[in-house]
Amino acid sequence: MDINCPLDKKTLRILNDARIRSVVPTVRELIGKRAKVVILAHQSRKGAWDFIGLGQHASLLSKNLNAPVTYTDDIIGDEAKGAISRMRAGDVLLLGNVRELDCEAVTAEMSMHAEAVLVAELSPLIDYYVCDAFGASHRAQCSLIGFQMKVPSASGRLMAREIYALKTIFDRPKRPSVFILGGAKFGEVPFMIDNVLKSGIADTVIVVGLAGNAFLLARGVEIGEASSKVLADELTEENFQAARDVLGRHGQRVLLPVDVAVERDGKRVCVNTGDMPTAEPALDIGDKSIDKFRKVILSSKTSFMSGPAGMFEKSGFEVGTKQLMMAMVESKGLSVLGGGHTAGAAERFDLADRVSYVSTGGGALETFLLQEPLPVIEALKYSKKKFGPDH
Ligand code: 3PG
Repeated sequence: MDINCPLDKKTLRILNDARIRSVVPTVRELIGKRAKVVILAHQSRKGAWDFIGLGQHASLLSKNLNAPVTYTDDIIGDEAKGAISRMRAGDVLLLGNVRELDCEAVTAEMSMHAEAVLVAELSPLIDYYVCDAFGASHRAQCSLIGFQMKVPSASGRLMAREIYALKTIFDRPKRPSVFILGGAKFGEVPFMIDNVLKSGIADTVIVVGLAGNAFLLARGVEIGEASSKVLADELTEENFQAARDVLGRHGQRVLLPVDVAVERDGKRVCVNTGDMPTAEPALDIGDKSIDKFRKVILSSKTSFMSGPAGMFEKSGFEVGTKQLMMAMVESKGLSVLGGGHTAGAAERFDLADRVSYVSTGGGALETFLLQEPLPVIEALKYSKKKFGPDH
């Protein structure tokens, strides 16, 4: 399962348990079938400040399930195996952070992972492997693609829901279909835009957030040092050129902000892009852009948003993100949100239950947007072929 959660940097407490809540239906269903449910999951990456054990995750899973969840820090040692052997039908056991294992740090083919120590130690103890880790399905890691060659495997309910929701907007979007791409990462954005426009998945793409600022720069707007400094790492020559190419190729189908909001004397002030550069960094899209983009979204039948429009955590600069999300709700069309920050913003604005679907994917969603294969899905397909559909 992907129950990788955002933590508070000071207290290391889980800030948002949305991903834990999202796997509850699968665990509940397995308990209902009297299965013994052994869960493998990760939190962050080795060496990072938020790389911790999964004790809190177990407590929160237990709370949301309303059933006991046993936790052990061990993964493949005697303690873990002992805990598995003591399980009774309907029990749930969460093992330690799987990224403690070296084999999990390797990106490799399914066949190599199938021989790794994690799979060698645990696969003799299990009958089935169920993968509900949609958020990590773009990773070719051992816990995600190593078991499918060894035991009959299936996708969990969350994985199935995610794929269904995303395929609906990708394969048969009701038109017009608008994609809103924002957030702090810019690197993949030009390629995602190119893909969704080229393949006809989207009719229009609205670019906001830091990505919007980078695209303004690519269109020749002097965004100023303060705004471009924030982009520094992301703004490689290759990415910048890709943005220019996309603008050249798709022209008016890519909509950029016409104004931005900056903080001046402690207040939100909107500045037309024609009046840039500003001494202050752009923290949100401006009010004219909000009006313009809302109209496009309101007349759409499909809308998809990945990445916020501005620094929504800062009071006064949540307006852009909130207003665009509100328009998605008001459009009455199919509305899908994705990415950790976007999902967090939707919860904060109490809009998560009002859009059609909120994806738990971040990187996985990006991979989906690029229409690249997801290793976990490929491994599950392999397992179905090998063990037959009846398992
Ligand atoms: C995520 O949060 O996107 C997933 O849990 C994958 O995490 P990763 O980027 O560290 O592999």
